[in-house]
Amino acid sequence: MTVEVTPRGPWWRDAVLYQIYPRSYGDTNGDGIGDLPGITARLDHLEWLGIDAIWISPITVSPNADWGYDVADYCDVDPALGTLADLDALVAAAAARDIEVVLDLVPNHTSSQHPWFVDARASRDAAHRDWYVWADPAPDGGPPNNWVSSFGGPAWTLDPTTGQYYLHNFLPEQPDLNWWNDAVRDEFERILRFWFDRGVAGFRIDVAHMVVKDRELRDNPPTDENDDWIDQIRGQRPVYNASRPEVHDVYRQWRTIARRYEPERLLLGETHVQNLATLASFYGHDDELGLAFNFPFLFSSFEASPLRALVDATTAALPHGAWPVWTLSNHDVSRAPTRWCEGDIARVRCALLLLLTLRGTPVLYYGDELGLPDTDVPFDRLVDPVSMRYYGVHNRDAARTPMPWSADAGAGFTTAGVEPWLPFGDLAAYNVTDQRADAGSTLQFTRDLLALRREHDDLHADSSDDAGSFDDVWMYRRGERMLVVLHLGEGRVSIPLPGPGPGRVLLDTQRTRDGDAVSQSVEIEGWRGLLVALD
Ligand code: GLC
Ligand code: CA
Repeated sequence: MTVEVTPRGPWWRDAVLYQIYPRSYGDTNGDGIGDLPGITARLDHLEWLGIDAIWISPITVSPNADWGYDVADYCDVDPALGTLADLDALVAAAAARDIEVVLDLVPNHTSSQHPWFVDARASRDAAHRDWYVWADPAPDGGPPNNWVSSFGGPAWTLDPTTGQYYLHNFLPEQPDLNWWNDAVRDEFERILRFWFDRGVAGFRIDVAHMVVKDRELRDNPPTDENDDWIDQIRGQRPVYNASRPEVHDVYRQWRTIARRYEPERLLLGETHVQNLATLASFYGHDDELGLAFNFPFLFSSFEASPLRALVDATTAALPHGAWPVWTLSNHDVSRAPTRWCEGDIARVRCALLLLLTLRGTPVLYYGDELGLPDTDVPFDRLVDPVSMRYYGVHNRDAARTPMPWSADAGAGFTTAGVEPWLPFGDLAAYNVTDQRADAGSTLQFTRDLLALRREHDDLHADSSDDAGSFDDVWMYRRGERMLVVLHLGEGRVSIPLPGPGPGRVLLDTQRTRDGDAVSQSVEIEGWRGLLVALD
């Protein structure tokens, strides 16, 4: 038995995070758009559920070319979502429930309507010209290099007024900032402090790996069949427009700032990289990001052996002391109940058991607690330019629809009769009210699992050991006494349990074996999971 004598480390190591897409959580003024008071009004749900922190997708002023990810003012709240006073009220109300509030920061690019860019494009000698990345046309008049936008097409747009191209790794309405300019760095440090001083517990950092680009703007090399599929689709390896060595200076500086606060502020990177060594580099030597999202995990298939290999490889790749972070869903991908589980609730619960017991910090996406699948959003209801461009292939709006609080008109999300900004899904099939009333629901399962996490330190212990996985069976021990048994496949299997003594099922994904005693082995059918306490 090991006794913990060292401090447990920063607060997010033991925390369960919960991502909220603010336009889709709760609408308090009947305009069909979720708002900050709508989140405050739902803190009871979050406290009851048992999460520790919320991360809210951008709430800052935005013309919404990319729904908040094109920022026109970094230090104010978008009027559709509320006011700074609403944010302060939310932070205070959350603190009263021991819930931290993490916001979303977009440092890679601004909105083309941000006053900095409006100034920058006015003339070549404008005060903010060098805050963005400008380059002369190639000799044939085309773009300065071969970089492609993450959303398709060239990453450059010609500005007719000044005769140069500006860089945008996303939409033309999202010009990239020039992080070689110290004025940009200073300004973002000021922005960090502005929010940290208000009690904001940290930031999720949008496209954290891309912020600094090659100073010489060199062409990216072409891909071959060994490259990652996303890069193959784009036809080039993102060598010069992402994961540049100099990006680490930015996060070292930000971590120094984050550490000056009590409690320390979280820097959670959207590190959208495929290579685990590159991912690991964003933790630095415990002096860069506190958590770096693991996209290979998110994009894996839901099968025991590749997932297990990926989790092991992540553990091996991360530097000493670095803590992993896992998520099943977010606002950019199809929800896990659809993408991983084909809508099958038995599988969804296995996915939740996995997410909430892996060694690391789990991030739930709003609706995950219900097992909420994607909503079928028809073409004429799409609002996301990426979903429109890739219709039939990639639909981000399907994962951004309003939280179903009830099956009533308005779904408990907005006023009855009001058309929400994105359509509701199948309200009768998934809603909070009905699942709260049903002890066997996925919502109650998630809540019970979160309660067990709080009760048993073993479930956020530093250790995680394979306990005899084979085929579709994934079995790992957390801490001294907790055993997670997952059967991610078909058919019935008999699984030998480790350890000498008997144990007890703390939680069964199907809920019929909760409390059962187990001894040398368990029989378990397909797509079922057990959390077992060993004696
Ligand atoms: C990130 C965001 C995504 C956005 C993009 C550009 O990937 O999660 O929603 O479109 O960055 O800001
Ligand atoms: Ca509203």
